[in-house]
Amino acid sequence: MKRRVAILISGRGSNMAALIEAARASDFPAEIAVVISNRTDAAGLEKARASGISTAVIESKPFGKDRAAFEQALEATLSDHGIEVICLAGFMRLFTAEFVQRWYGRMLNIHPSLLPSFPGLDPHGQALRAGVKISGATVHFVIPETDAGPIVMQGAVAVRDDDTAETLSARILDVEHRIYPEALRLLASGRLALEGERCSTAGSGGRIEALISPATG
Ligand code: GAR
Repeated sequence: MKRRVAILISGRGSNMAALIEAARASDFPAEIAVVISNRTDAAGLEKARASGISTAVIESKPFGKDRAAFEQALEATLSDHGIEVICLAGFMRLFTAEFVQRWYGRMLNIHPSLLPSFPGLDPHGQALRAGVKISGATVHFVIPETDAGPIVMQGAVAVRDDDTAETLSARILDVEHRIYPEALRLLASGRLALEGERCSTAGSGGRIEALISPATG
């Protein structure tokens, strides 16, 4: 049985589209049952509809600071669709600790930096200002702290001297689109184990080349 997944978005939904595309494969262990946005104007909604995926909008604005009331409406939609796993994909709203704890181990997020470096806003600008030579993207289990939690998968790219936030973010986005479907595949097929603050992966350990940056040859 495929695990039933909800993708939560607030904007353009390119990671959502990558997850939808991956889940089309008959051997993918999860199906995207619904895409939920907290904004009616999220461009990703149209993409989801065009892919034939059910969508729902639960506008967060009217709830103001009442996160629990927003989450009650969200839980109702999740339960209507029989959701077992949540993927946050550019979902720009914080949850209460209670909601996060209820979904612990069943809710993933993606962030465009090598966490724990550069959580929060403007991770690409943060990476450029810090002068790191390698950055990337991280898929992690969600905990109450923002952009933190057991790391499932990371992908790295070289940071170039002439990078801008735009060029770096485009390169990292390609990596995001590769690792998020793979991380969901691992979770949905039961290959991930949570041990305290760490996540381990059954059957991992293949050979990986080192990424060295800058390339000076
Ligand atoms: C992605 O780069 C994602 O990693 C980031 O928002 C973007 C959403 O793009 N998420 C965060 O910064 C979470 N703190 P998308 O809507 O095209 O997937």
